[in-house]
Amino acid sequence: MVEKYLDTVKEHEQNSQNKPLIMSATSKSVSSKTPVSIGIIGSGHRGGTFINELVKMPELARISAICDVSTERMKILTTRFGLKDTKQFTSLDEMLAGNLVEAVIVTVPDNLHRWAAVKIFEAGKDVMLEKPLAPTAEDCRAILQAHRRSGRLMQVGFVLRSTSFYRRVKAIVDSGVLGQIMFIHACEYLGVQHGASYMTRWHRKRENAGTFLLAKCSHDLDILNWLTGSKPQAVASFGGNDFFLPERGGAAHCSECERTETCPYQVDLNWHFITGETRPPGSDLCAFNDDKDVIDNQVVILEYANRIRATFELQLFHPVGGRRITIGGQYGYLEGDFEAGKITIHYNTDGRIEEITLKAANDSGHGGGDFEFTRSFVRAIRTRETNSAGAEAGLAANVIAEAVERSRLKKCVVPISLLEYEVGSIQGKIQHRKKSKTIRK
Ligand SMILES: NC(=O)c1ccc[n+]([C@@H]2O[C@H](COP(=O)([O-])OP(=O)(O)OC[C@H]3O[C@@H](n4cnc5c(N)ncnc54)[C@H](O)[C@@H]3O)[C@@H](O)[C@H]2O)c1
Repeated sequence: MVEKYLDTVKEHEQNSQNKPLIMSATSKSVSSKTPVSIGIIGSGHRGGTFINELVKMPELARISAICDVSTERMKILTTRFGLKDTKQFTSLDEMLAGNLVEAVIVTVPDNLHRWAAVKIFEAGKDVMLEKPLAPTAEDCRAILQAHRRSGRLMQVGFVLRSTSFYRRVKAIVDSGVLGQIMFIHACEYLGVQHGASYMTRWHRKRENAGTFLLAKCSHDLDILNWLTGSKPQAVASFGGNDFFLPERGGAAHCSECERTETCPYQVDLNWHFITGETRPPGSDLCAFNDDKDVIDNQVVILEYANRIRATFELQLFHPVGGRRITIGGQYGYLEGDFEAGKITIHYNTDGRIEEITLKAANDSGHGGGDFEFTRSFVRAIRTRETNSAGAEAGLAANVIAEAVERSRLKKCVVPISLLEYEVGSIQGKIQHRKKSKTIRK
């Protein structure tokens, strides 16, 4: 059995590095050895992360340009990483003009993804769009249509798929050692500071990032879809804001609060600002503020089209934080702890227990996923082939998150038509709906 899934592991690793799964339009004739010229829009936390990864691979990529409304952030990052030749822009149109960049990494807040992605596709460049694709399905559709028209490459920032941990879990599931998979339980817990940061940054409002499940856990929804090889056809959910309530808070800002010494939720502004940046007064909003409309705990049940049942649980006030997963199959049960890099398989057949401890492939963020993901994107720009998550996976997370939200609000099971997930049928479906409306009139 062990050999069986180790073979699958090898196959997955080869797939993730070499084997094409998605192909897109060919690039102009540029030598495959020439480093790709990358532009980055959004020089905040994720923008800084991608710069940090790209500078480790100068043979593959150079950062030709960055764009941000904050000249201070661009200055800090170009100085920190010694990017003397990187051009700085406050206008995306100006960065896209001419041939300065072949591809753009989009790391602006979620509500600007549509605006940025459509412009970049229209300029004929490849795109790496941070997850989630966009706050609403309508925005996703506009992005997907621009993507299709352009014929360019698109990768969505589901970096967990690029980690040793989730690749191994996927390899185990695909190897068949667990037999037919019956259920999956997964969770994401945010530690106190991480949770408090989401309650005080731009994500605290749905108009900026959509529902919290989408904004933060689209990663996890994508992992469930990837592991099951299917899509949910019905979902149900309960959740709310029950912990970060205004009545539990102190003063409006931590600097004015008498509980500062003892409050574990006191905001750590390193989550808000990049190192060295000016921090305007009033940025230290209390996590228990009343200026937010996202939830802080939620449970979700999903029934997949292939009959796998899954549950997902999130909470933002966990003492430690982390992602865990359990998978129940015909022959055994898998338990995994992402942060600890531990996977345990219990076999029903002979009572055997197998323990696997994994080391991240490198020291980048998201368990080594950030480096692997970035490298796969810049390689794909030359090869025109990628096996990372693309538009379809991005749209699926939105479709699920929207159905889950309907269920949470109405307290009912919400069915999802599998047509909703089909990128190709979007246009047809919209037209079909319009037609049916007309007929009913
Ligand atoms: N893959 C992941 O695990 C992961 C993790 C965190 C965040 N994200 C996503 O990455 C993206 C960026 O998140 P972040 O935490 O880096 O945010 P951030 O607030 O730190 O950075 C966003 C940057 O965009 C800039 N910006 C805003 N409007 C702009 C405009 N019109 N033109 C140019 N620049 C503009 C801001 O000045 C800021 O520097 C979001 O979509 C977020 O959801 C993904």
